[in-house]
Amino acid sequence: MTAQTIDGKNFAARIRGRVADHVARLRDERGVTPGLAVVLVGDDPASQVYVRSKGKMTKECGMESFEYRLPETTGEAELLALIAKLNADGAVHGILVQLPLPAQIDAELVINSIDPSKDVDGFHVSNVGRLATGQRSMVPCTPLGCLLMLREHCGSLSGLNAVVLGRSNIVGKPMAQLLLSESCTVTIAHSRTRDLQDVTRRADILVAAVGRPEMVTGDYLKAGATVIDVGINRVERDGKNRLVGDCHFDSCASVAGAITPVPGGVGPMTIACLLANTVTAYCRAHD
Ligand code: GUN
Repeated sequence: MTAQTIDGKNFAARIRGRVADHVARLRDERGVTPGLAVVLVGDDPASQVYVRSKGKMTKECGMESFEYRLPETTGEAELLALIAKLNADGAVHGILVQLPLPAQIDAELVINSIDPSKDVDGFHVSNVGRLATGQRSMVPCTPLGCLLMLREHCGSLSGLNAVVLGRSNIVGKPMAQLLLSESCTVTIAHSRTRDLQDVTRRADILVAAVGRPEMVTGDYLKAGATVIDVGINRVERDGKNRLVGDCHFDSCASVAGAITPVPGGVGPMTIACLLANTVTAYCRAHD
């Protein structure tokens, strides 16, 4: 069996097209433009790439992009003051503080200082609680992107066995909440899970978000499973720097029914969902 490849790049381009249409309608009908502020503290190379890409795609969709690049030595009070300014700014509808933050800054405090209605990452504790209790919330972009791909590929997810590998606040936990709200039977597996392959082999849907290069091989999978690979890991291979997922693509593709590639799977969907969340934040604030 060779799995179907789920093309996140193409799907993300369609979502961005819909976002751009919506932004154009808001401009033509109401004379307004949604704005996204992205804050980067320090010079982590991967974060710089993500932030540049977010800014570029925000503008390509016709929205305002506000970028704040602060030095590594920035103090917590200074960052909190910037967030307070952005919370009060009527031209800013979404605020994203790129993680990780330098050690002298309490990331939880900073995230929880963002106005929850502008929290396009969905990381504010109020949005986390709202998602967990089935209330309208901002939904974290990566799990949202994974869910959209699963819905498109599988149709109804009701009653399926879903295993989420990884328990992070950014991906694993919100992914499990979203799958539960789709009426999946959800298991969260992690580094301490016993007999991991016995758990993952029961999965109709496997979402891998552990940050361990190519850890999941075909032996972990039930035949025909749908595999969503959230991992983006840089490895040295044959003297070259390569990007690989948490799943070993070739061995997984020989067992799975469908699988997302890395790159070109979850990554582009995350940014597309960030743009969609920004328009959603604008609409909820004004409708
Ligand atoms: N760093 C890695 N992923 C993310 C994300 O989804 N949002 C933010 N703000 N920072 C990240």
